[in-house]
Amino acid sequence: MRLETMLGDITKVKCDAIANAANTSLLGGGGVDGAIHRAAGPKLLEECRTLHGCDTGKAKITRGYNLPAKYVLHTPGPIWRGGNHNEEALLAGSYRSCLELAVEYGCKTVAFPSISTGVYGFPLDKASKIAVKAILDFLQEHEEIERVIMVCFSQDTKKWYDEVISETKM
Ligand code: AR6
Repeated sequence: MRLETMLGDITKVKCDAIANAANTSLLGGGGVDGAIHRAAGPKLLEECRTLHGCDTGKAKITRGYNLPAKYVLHTPGPIWRGGNHNEEALLAGSYRSCLELAVEYGCKTVAFPSISTGVYGFPLDKASKIAVKAILDFLQEHEEIERVIMVCFSQDTKKWYDEVISETKM
């Protein structure tokens, strides 16, 4: 199985790229975004300023600076607005766009936080299904990526992802 979960802090994970649940400005914020910027150091924000933002459901890449990860894949996930505003497709787009960039930059290992399920309010039951499907669909078509880790910040989050993965196990 090339998709696994772990309980922990994504800023400590050593892999080729980690994803950042950013906002469309790409200029930092709270939650995992704030933690990634703090751990990477001020050069990350400097590089982010040159990117001129990013659309929801897409991704842009920077170096990882002081992080153990080589790259950061910045993706603004959708804000949950009840489910009738294309949230599901946009969330899948965030995972897919990050993985496409990862392949383009030769990454073999990628870690994700649970995008949109914090401040952006996406219900975890739905978000975990969408994330797992988007990642597994991508992995099926791309042998280049060896391992994807869902880094869960709480036991509850991990429980949802573990459950969905065990239900979908190939
Ligand atoms: N490692 C792994 N996961 C984390 C960490 C960490 N260090 N810190 C928090 N999480 P959120 P969103 C989890 O709110 O919902 C920012 O202000 C957290 O528990 O960070 O996509 C941005 O700038 C939750 O499970 O991201 C945007 O404005 C998950 O990461 C906005 O928040 C996502 O929570 C994006 O909101």
